[in-house]
Amino acid sequence: MILFWIILGLLSLSESQKSFLPNLPAGEYRIVYDAVYNCKYSKNNLVEVNLYFSKKSNNMTEVKGNFTLHIPVDDDLNLEVNFSSWSLRGGWVKNSFVQNFDKMCTNLKMLAGKAWSPFVEAFHVPTNKCPIPKGTYTTKGIDVRVVDGNNFPKVFFYGKYKLEMKIKFKNNTLVGCEALEIRVVRPWELPNF
Ligand SMILES: *[C@@H]1O[C@H](CO)[C@@H](O)[C@H](O)[C@H]1NC(C)=O
Ligand SMILES: *[C@@H]1O[C@H](CO)[C@@H](O)[C@H](O)[C@H]1NC(C)=O
Ligand SMILES: *[C@@H]1O[C@H](CO)[C@@H](O)[C@H](O)[C@H]1NC(C)=O
Ligand SMILES: *[C@@H]1O[C@H](CO)[C@@H](O)[C@H](O)[C@H]1NC(C)=O
Repeated sequence: MILFWIILGLLSLSESQKSFLPNLPAGEYRIVYDAVYNCKYSKNNLVEVNLYFSKKSNNMTEVKGNFTLHIPVDDDLNLEVNFSSWSLRGGWVKNSFVQNFDKMCTNLKMLAGKAWSPFVEAFHVPTNKCPIPKGTYTTKGIDVRVVDGNNFPKVFFYGKYKLEMKIKFKNNTLVGCEALEIRVVRPWELPNF
């Protein structure tokens, strides 16, 4: 879901990165947003996310869709982010890096940084404070580059990454899961979308 923006937070967790150094060249980069989808671990999720990327033009990708919260997103939820990298030999690298966040709403807001307000407005969420109330939220489209205002690291490892973002109760019961696939490419590698 909006967990989507968590990538930003992860990319800046330099301490955690040290245990996850992919054997790949690094440098200045651009992020290509390949896919966002439901992880489908169960059918009836308390947090249902139906987001997708839509290429508006060859230099602009939008996030479209909706999400339904059958429970409020508050600080009683935890977020577990499983970060996998794509091996040059093919296949997702098994020893992926897992980061846990408690107090989901507060941490999400903190990680989203400048992207939080545009996101909240695009989905017509009635408040920009925690918690996010129950409800169904829909957007006509929001430019993925809204996140560019964040404090990303200047350099990162080129490659393809998958993030699985699991929303859990404190007792570890899964309430929702969203996956995001991105590529970190050299700035000139692909058309700027
Ligand atoms: C995207 O492309 C359009 C048409 O080529 C151009 O007018 C616009 O300025 C571009 N936007 C960005 C952010 O590069
Ligand atoms: C949310 O998106 C899904 C998938 O695109 C769609 O089937 C559903 O009707 C949408 N729900 C609402 C409330 O717009
Ligand atoms: C993280 O994801 C990888 C690849 O999908 C999977 O093999 C691994 O079991 C996951 N780890 C955890 C702790 O969920
Ligand atoms: C886990 O916690 C939730 C929310 O507090 C509760 O509704 C659910 O029954 C609990 N599940 C288990 C297996 O304890």
